[in-house]
Amino acid sequence: MIIDQFNRVHDYLRISLTERCNLRCFYCMPEEGILLRPRSEFMSAEEVIEMAKVFVSLGVKKIRLTGGEPLVRKDAKKIIADLALLPVELAITTNGILIDDCLCTFKSSGIKSINVSLDSLKKERFNSISRRNYFDKVTSNINLLLKENFHVKINAVVIKGVNDDEICDFVAWTRDKNVHLRFIEFMPFLGNKWDWSKGVSFKEIITKIEKQYGDDVIKLKDAVNDTAKNYSVKNHMGTFAIISSVTNPFCDTCNRMRLTADGKIKNCLFSGTETDLLSAMRNGEDIVPLILESIWNKKRIRGGMNSFEDFSDPSRFQKNRSMVSIGG
Ligand code: GTP
Ligand code: 5AD
Ligand code: SF4
Repeated sequence: MIIDQFNRVHDYLRISLTERCNLRCFYCMPEEGILLRPRSEFMSAEEVIEMAKVFVSLGVKKIRLTGGEPLVRKDAKKIIADLALLPVELAITTNGILIDDCLCTFKSSGIKSINVSLDSLKKERFNSISRRNYFDKVTSNINLLLKENFHVKINAVVIKGVNDDEICDFVAWTRDKNVHLRFIEFMPFLGNKWDWSKGVSFKEIITKIEKQYGDDVIKLKDAVNDTAKNYSVKNHMGTFAIISSVTNPFCDTCNRMRLTADGKIKNCLFSGTETDLLSAMRNGEDIVPLILESIWNKKRIRGGMNSFEDFSDPSRFQKNRSMVSIGG
């Protein structure tokens, strides 16, 4: 069992397969892009599987693949198929562009739940946020997943003056679509020009929705380790939720660990420190003690940024990576 000083059992591993992405969302990727490094600095497909096996032997029950965009990796299908042989629930977070190409792999690997980013229902706006032209592809792939009965969560990062006027449109979208929409508070990472004046809080989001839908808004039960507060609107097929890492962190029940594409374990999304598992593994060392030590030293809240002041201090969050190289 992997456990920290606060008795939190860690049984959920998020593996980033690559730092590359075929979109350029401004809240995630620094404008100048990120430094491309030689392939040898990143985990090979075999190393990903070897790492995953060690984590599974320590009690990991769920693995989520992230990126950058995990599916841009040429060997993504092989990695998914190999991970599917392990006794874990396998899930993926993707920008949706390559879903049609990977559908058969998802099905044969038993993936049931797919999280897709979609920050606007308006084509021009989506393309402007992501600095590319894939709106039609992403929305048609979301429809494909629904047709194939996948559990589909949609991630929308809410940013003031960018897409906050679409909150109720998104909720209306869940009326005839069996999607699980999540509004996400804008979080600070290296190079994303974060400033909370651009953020929209949980409170503002739910107030807007309740103003429109009144008593038809129903609070749903949240799973123990859920990052989201879940709701539905009466008679809507889908649901909506809010992920409030900024105004209302949910660290008490955290069960998550992260493995970056270059093989470092991060004990928290916001940790400023990491432990290099890949070099140790390549040197033939046992990585188990490194994993246990990293998690044992995990801070109680947001990598030690307990207050809002700490959290919004650039000298702290700029010690972290950019989101594209963490994977969310
Ligand atoms: P599941 O619960 O497995 O469905 O995953 P998820 O919803 O947490 O994952 P997803 O990759 O879709 O991420 C959605 C949002 O939640 C992103 O903005 C993530 O950065 C954020 N998120 C995911 N995990 C954590 C976490 O451990 N802590 C915080 N603060 N935010 C997280
Ligand atoms: N704040 C909040 N969520 C973010 N994501 C990426 N960058 C940020 C940020 N700065 C979300 C995307 C993606 C998920 C993995 O992380 O919506 O779906
Ligand atoms: Fe866990 Fe860190 Fe996220 Fe809190 S901020 S839920 S401790 S990963």
